[in-house]
Amino acid sequence: MHARLSYDDPNWEAEVRKICAEIENVDGALMLALHRLMEDFGYISEPATILVAELLHLTPPQVFAVATYYHEFRTEKPAETTLMLCRGPACRIQGMVALRKTMEKLLGITVGERTADNKFAIESSGCLGICPHAPAMQIDHDLAGRVTPEELERLIAERSGVPV
Ligand code: FES
Repeated sequence: MHARLSYDDPNWEAEVRKICAEIENVDGALMLALHRLMEDFGYISEPATILVAELLHLTPPQVFAVATYYHEFRTEKPAETTLMLCRGPACRIQGMVALRKTMEKLLGITVGERTADNKFAIESSGCLGICPHAPAMQIDHDLAGRVTPEELERLIAERSGVPV
């Protein structure tokens, strides 16, 4: 799933104003606004943080504190493809180390990093909930099970724009 809107769009401020106008009198308006920004833009930019603060009569540090406290919010533009490795026990037993090494070798980055061109990021998570299909990972918003290093290599090549 990709964000519907971009902060590069000259109308982004109008969109944020519209979101805040819809929810400003609702309990939990700040959380609602931040969830909407995540859904619509994919992350919460610094200028959006400042604008939301102004519109909801808060200070930018108050908004920033909430945006950085909760795991579901991001304050940085996500990579084009996020490869999320499962750190759970079933996946570790079933070959996750080989998958991680394949990624690190192909992309030149490790868990918690992103490539310089922002095409890929590698992250890790606790159990993804599909242990019978270990080793599992999440590619952007899609779960993938029984992933092999060869499949991963193919996926990275495809998304890098390299002919496979
Ligand atoms: S341990 Fe990886 S999906 Fe459960």
